[in-house]
Amino acid sequence: MSKGKGFIPREFIDMLIARADIVSVINQRVPLKRAGSNYKACCPFHDEKTPSFTVSEPKQFYYCFGCNASGSVLDFLMNYERLEFVEAIEALAQIEGLEVPYESRSKQSEAAIKRQKNLLEVMSMAEAFYRQQLRISSDKERAVNYLQKRGITGDDAKKFGIGFAPEGWNGLLTELTKHDIPENELLEAGLLSESDNHRRYDRFRDRIMFPIRNRKGDTIGFGGRILDQGEPKYLNSPETPIFKKGEEVYGLYELRKYCRDYNEIIVVEGYMDVVMLSHYGIGNSVATLGTAIGHRQIELLLRYTSRIVFCFDGDRAGRGAAHKAMDESFSVLTAGKEVSFLFLPEGEDPDSYVQAHGKEAFQNLVKNAAPLSQFLFEAAESDVNMNSFEGRSQFLEIAGEKINSMRDIPLRDFLRAELGRRANLAESLLNRYVKEGRSTTSRRKVNFSSGQSLVERILILLLSKPALARDLQGLHFLLESEDRQQNLLYEVIAAIKDYQNLATAAQLIRHFEEEPWGQWLRNLAMQELIIDEELQEGELKDLMQQLAKGESPLKKVLAKLQNNEPLTEDELMLLRHS
Ligand code: UTP
Ligand code: MN
Repeated sequence: MSKGKGFIPREFIDMLIARADIVSVINQRVPLKRAGSNYKACCPFHDEKTPSFTVSEPKQFYYCFGCNASGSVLDFLMNYERLEFVEAIEALAQIEGLEVPYESRSKQSEAAIKRQKNLLEVMSMAEAFYRQQLRISSDKERAVNYLQKRGITGDDAKKFGIGFAPEGWNGLLTELTKHDIPENELLEAGLLSESDNHRRYDRFRDRIMFPIRNRKGDTIGFGGRILDQGEPKYLNSPETPIFKKGEEVYGLYELRKYCRDYNEIIVVEGYMDVVMLSHYGIGNSVATLGTAIGHRQIELLLRYTSRIVFCFDGDRAGRGAAHKAMDESFSVLTAGKEVSFLFLPEGEDPDSYVQAHGKEAFQNLVKNAAPLSQFLFEAAESDVNMNSFEGRSQFLEIAGEKINSMRDIPLRDFLRAELGRRANLAESLLNRYVKEGRSTTSRRKVNFSSGQSLVERILILLLSKPALARDLQGLHFLLESEDRQQNLLYEVIAAIKDYQNLATAAQLIRHFEEEPWGQWLRNLAMQELIIDEELQEGELKDLMQQLAKGESPLKKVLAKLQNNEPLTEDELMLLRHS
């Protein structure tokens, strides 16, 4: 949240969201039409002909049944205008005619920020040191020769900040401690290793150094390639407070800085691949950080582009990695975004391929990459015998499970239909394998759907009018319940009671955004509640009572009995006296 200028107090953000009117902000960008108590438009985040993009004034929340986009006025600005969080706050403050009150952080977080700042500084000094070594190290010739042999020019090296960690145990250690950097900071930054008898020495030795940068361009880690033979071939920085491998990709900063058109981003496996593709004028590639790709990285990339092409080696490991990438894509793919899969000939990687066959040949491969739909079915079919019922039913299970994990977007409907065609199964029987995407109309008309738990129904009520929670009493049972949903309900109610400004769904969602269950709340906020305003309070009390009853001690004991679980003394007593 800091951007050099300082820290934006949470209260200001809450106040800003409370004050801004989501309807007018969106309406100025996407003209809205009134529809009952909501506003509607064709969704700006995916292609559609009939409006399923909905803005709720009381909830201060937007959502789309077509592509599942949803959020507060801030989310809208971030997604619609492609702004970072702080930029969106600035924009919204400007709309509201307010100045953003940057503050220094509270003491505790100030310490954390300072620590991160220190680490960034240390990393930047290390990067400069490694780059300098490429020019002044007594061993620089070997490094330069190696880069030349690999086809990397001075320009490439400059663009990616490539450097050299010379041989020896303490080149970096000596240099940086000379500049008053404490050893501890070097250790924390992952630049030193420690031996069993606590001797500290340079982690990276005799390696070509690839700085890994965050989106702002700060160096947050390194990948170091050994010059000659040796293990490991690549040594990477460990995770640190500023380096989270699951949330960053190599080359994204350079891509954003140097590549003008990245409507498509190619994800490759190696640093060297990114550098070499860039050398050949293909600037839109990034690499994972020595780990398999995860959904957070995919989500990150989809914020900047609408098409990802995963590029893998043609061997078995490549296939495995592709399966993982596919699985990770399902839950984050939204309408209008696509992923495809490209397999290189056995034994080639993008680096070797582009050097051997040139830019156009590689771009042709990219153009012909298999879309998710194709890869999904071909992969599932290749595992089974499609000529037998047994094989086809396995196919239905394998592919069906994947389609099921997908969000409710148009592609899902097509995949579902295609699944039926390929397995030769009637549409009416498909539901066993893939649930039908809930259509806009059926979801809107039902009051509560039968699949919803009591807690979820209560949350839907609270999201439509958080103030209802203020009068609730006797909530202790929620805390003590073994049902996780009930514990979370307690947290939500407690937060509403504690914070005056949690008055709309949008604010609640923001409040819990960082929680792993934040998305759950978000989805619940999309549920339309059709209970008359006057009846809501009664309904809530009713539901709470049902919930409390369900948790009655007696009921618990009975449940235990049914499951043949042993009872405690107290529980036996309770049973006898009831
Ligand atoms: P590769 O082994 O495919 O290397 O590793 P490469 O990219 O082709 O590199 P060159 O051409 O031999 O120099 C791909 C990626 O896997 C991670 C690194 O991120 C590397 O870029 N990796 C590989 C490691 O982290 N450690 C290793 O020992 C090997
Ligand atoms: Mn390679």
